[in-house]
Amino acid sequence: MSESFYERAGGQKTFNDLVSHFYALVAVNPILRPMYPDNDLHGAGRRLQMFLEQYWGGPTTYSDERGHPRLRMRHSSFHISRKEHDAWLICMKDAVNGLEIADDLKSELWQYLEAAAAGMINAAD
Ligand code: HEM
Repeated sequence: MSESFYERAGGQKTFNDLVSHFYALVAVNPILRPMYPDNDLHGAGRRLQMFLEQYWGGPTTYSDERGHPRLRMRHSSFHISRKEHDAWLICMKDAVNGLEIADDLKSELWQYLEAAAAGMINAAD
């Protein structure tokens, strides 16, 4: 069997680096910070990390703990217009760029995140 993206990209360390960097930016972002739980940014980070690890062929802890991802449904209680979408992607772009992985892996990851973020928009501006 060929190696998963998860393995090729460096496994858990890479996803931990990505999500830690992302949430450090969310914590000080005036558009995003109010959307996340007041005292559980760490929990939010853990959920995103588990999801991304599973999506890319790593451990399936996300579904073991949370069930089917149904991400669009799970985001329906948040107002996500172009503005929140752009803020999320700006933080994520910085986090992806900061990873110490090959450029082709970065661009594969980035293309997915960009497409997934577009699918999460649920409100007009
Ligand atoms: C487009 C902009 C987005 C915004 C503003 C946004 C915002 C949020 C917020 C406020 C939460 C709740 C935090 C928590 O878990 O307590 C959340 C959860 C989550 N988001 Fe996003 N999100 C966006 C895009 C995405 C994308 C593109 C993905 C996946 C590639 C994603 C994956 C997740 C996951 C896995 C959770 C936890 C779901 C759960 O198990 O409850 N989000 N998001």
